[in-house]
Formats: sequence, structure tokens, C-alpha cells
Amino acid sequence: MAARAQNFVCQSCGAAAARWAGRCEACGEWNTMVEEGALAPARSSRKGRVFVIEPLKGATHEAPRAASGIAEFDRVTGGGLVRGSVLLLGGDPGIGKSTLLLEVAAAFARARHRAVYISGEEAVAQVRLRAERLGLSEATVELAAETAVEDIVATLSHGAIPRLLVIDSIQTMWTQAVEAAPGTVTQVRGSAAELIRFAKRTGSAVILVGHVTKDGQIAGPRVVEHMVDAVLSFEGEGSQQFRILRAIKNRFGPTDEIGVFEMTGAGLREVANPSELFLSERDLGSPGTAVFAGIEGTRPLLVEIQALVAPTTLGTPRRAVVGWDASRLSMVLAVLEAHCGVRLSGHDVYLNVAGGLRIQEPAADVAAAAALVSSLTHAPLPADAVYFGEVSLSGAVRPVAQTAARLKEAQKLGFTRAVAPESARNESPDGVALKTVGALADLVADIARDGTAPLRRVGRPDG
Ligand code: TYD
Ligand code: MG
Repeated sequence: MAARAQNFVCQSCGAAAARWAGRCEACGEWNTMVEEGALAPARSSRKGRVFVIEPLKGATHEAPRAASGIAEFDRVTGGGLVRGSVLLLGGDPGIGKSTLLLEVAAAFARARHRAVYISGEEAVAQVRLRAERLGLSEATVELAAETAVEDIVATLSHGAIPRLLVIDSIQTMWTQAVEAAPGTVTQVRGSAAELIRFAKRTGSAVILVGHVTKDGQIAGPRVVEHMVDAVLSFEGEGSQQFRILRAIKNRFGPTDEIGVFEMTGAGLREVANPSELFLSERDLGSPGTAVFAGIEGTRPLLVEIQALVAPTTLGTPRRAVVGWDASRLSMVLAVLEAHCGVRLSGHDVYLNVAGGLRIQEPAADVAAAAALVSSLTHAPLPADAVYFGEVSLSGAVRPVAQTAARLKEAQKLGFTRAVAPESARNESPDGVALKTVGALADLVADIARDGTAPLRRVGRPDG
């Protein structure tokens, strides 16, 4: 018998190599290569089995999706869980993944679907304790503390097929199909493959919980992300009560919707109007804050953008950004410098999106620029104004999508002014005074006029 080829697998990205190396060639991480068994035992003598090929056109008997009734969860999944689909839910430890999924399982049970919750991390008693705290002790969720995938699949293949199976977490599962030690990438991948097969075979929706590493990746295998139908991430600042559920990948739904929850003493509460939450602790009247009228998925969302611009003591000034794209900030700073006469090269710049939200829209450019200039010139922005618009490299303010929805949300929350691109001219609802800006320089001049610190114009001496 020939010796089996050595199989070294990177514990960070899942790449395999024949030889050990100090650094993974695929992802560049150090000390992550670990020897593991081969993924599947060789079965060279097996002949192919003949299977039936079906036409594309055909009757689908059952409702393909089941909603949980938890609106924020259903929104992110695209209207509920598709039969036979597999979701991966990632998030920091302690963020509330187990809490969320126990609530989702209970919601399914309430709708008379069979929901099974398998915990590989906690004992049944601990899960019961959590259910009690959530007021769900009466829910007909079926529980087990198990880690052997074959046992789980064998148990659930009898009787009614569950409509929802929660595996908390995939890192604790192990399968006999592979030889590697529990917890290794190969085991996680093997266990996930087994559970995905179960989902596809039976039509049960499966949610796998995945731990997240320090740098925010779902621990171990990125490969599992490619195997599943949807990857959701549950995020939040440890110190704050908001939790945001976001789809990173979704074969059956949108990836730009977010679900907003608040962690309370009795579980997660849905937040139907997140703008109110994100604006609840505003620092009125101080310079450096602007309210951005954004859109997350289909829903408008107002959020405060905070900037701090301060003279630097370093040779290279600092640029730090939380909740927004760092390269977007660099671009806005470059445009301010090149087209608006705002000199920032001697200043440290900090930008923060309040409430732990992460914004991805370029429409936040104008709000970020307004906050930056406000901080630099010590000119507080009007407390009743919202800002949005994309800034182009030429310094022009470009139109953005869904202007009407942004303005309407602003009106609903009592804002009376909006600074927006020219294209918004005819879309303003009653009660919101619109100020359109064609060029960022106009806005900068407007803000600086009220400031106590003069703008240091490039190429012009002060005073
Ligand atoms: P948990 O769901 O165990 O997190 P994860 O599975 O992502 O590790 O949630 C743990 C945290 O949530 C813990 O710090 C306690 C807090 N919590 C509440 O604040 N209220 C609650 O009702 C529950 C169940 C947990
Ligand atoms: Mg947990």
C-alpha cells in the first residue's frame, strides 16, 4: 500500500499543501499549517451510480420559504428560510448568536414547524436557562447537546423532518468521514459538508453558527462560506446594545438589507425604526457632527457621522476611521484639499459612525465632508439638517439613489433642512427646506462662514 500523501491544511484559510511551511502560501498567515488527514478515504473501486435527470420545468409542491415572523430576521434572509438551504451565522463570541437562533427556533416552533436546536457548546440545562430568560420555556423547540454529525443526521432522519435545524456551533462538530482532529479546518469542512447533504436531501433548513476570529473572519474555513447558501453576520459594539444582522452572501435574497436588534435583559428586541435608535444620543450643538440620510437595503436610515480634526504632533498625520471605508475618507480629504481649499495635511483626522453602524454607501461623502469641515472650523452644523450626496474627484456633488425616501425619513424624524445634490430639487417633502449643492466647495464655504476658526486656504496667506 502506498503511503498516503501528507496533507497540511492552513487553519486560517483552508488551503492545503503537500509540505509543511511556516507561512501559508495562499493567505500569508504564519504558523497556521497543521497536518490533517485526507478529506475522504479513497474508494478507487467504486463505480458511478446512475441517477435520474429531471427537466427544469416541474412542480414544486411545498412553499419554498418559511418566514420566522421575526421581521428583522426575515428581511435579511430575503423573506424567510428556503427549504433545504444552509446558512452560516458568524459573529464575535457573546454578541448574541445563540440568543438570536433560540428566538428564531422558537418562532418556527410557534408556527407549528418542527425546530431542532443542537448545541455543541452548552449543556441542555444551559440552553433551557437561556430560554427561561427569554420567556420561551414553553416553546416546543427540540433540544440536544451533541457534537457527532453522523449521530445528529441519523437521529433527525427518523420521523418528521425538521423545518429548521440549528447547529451551534460548526466548530464543535466532528464527523467520522475525515480523520482530522476535532476543531481543525478539515473537520469543520467535513462536518459542514455532511450537514449540507442532510439539508439538500431532506429539505430542512440548516443554520450553522460560526465563530469569528479577531480579524473578523468566520474562524477557520473560508471554504465553508463557499459551501453554504447564505452567510449572515451578527455585529455590534460590545459596549452598546444595538446588534446588526447583515447578509454577506445570499443565494436566495438581497445582501444589502440589515436587521437591527437591541439586546435587552430579556433577549433581543426588534428595532423597527433604527433611525430613532441611532440618533437617540446626539451631541447637539458641538462641531464635527453631521446627520447622514442613508439607505440600508430598502430602508432609509439616519445616522450621525462624527469627525475630529486636530493639529497633529506627528510627522505623518493620523487618519482613523470607524464604520466607514478608509479609502473613501482619503478621497474626501483629497477633494477637500484640492478643490475646496481646505488644508488638512497638518491635522490628524478621526471619523466615526455613531452607534457601531458600518456604512458602505458613497452617498455619505457629503455628510462626512460636512462633519470634517465643521470640526476643523469649530462651526457646529444646524441640528435639524441632514446631509447626503456622493462627491466626485472633481469636487462635484453627484446624485444618489432613493432621494425621496431619504428626505421622507428626515421629515418623519423632525428634520427641517436637507443638504443634497441638485437632482433632489423637486423631491423634497413639505416641511423640509432643501439646499442643493452642485460643488463641495459651496458647502465648505457655507459651513466655514459660521466658524470661529478660519479655513486655512491653500496658496493664500491667513488673514
Ligand atoms: P449569546 O447568545 O450566548 O452569544 P453568542 O452565542 O454569540 O456567544 O449571548 C451572550 C450575551 O448576551 C451575554 O453577554 C449575555 C447577553 N444576554 C442579554 O443581555 N440578555 C439576554 O436575554 C440573553 C439571553 C443574553
Ligand atoms: Mg453561543
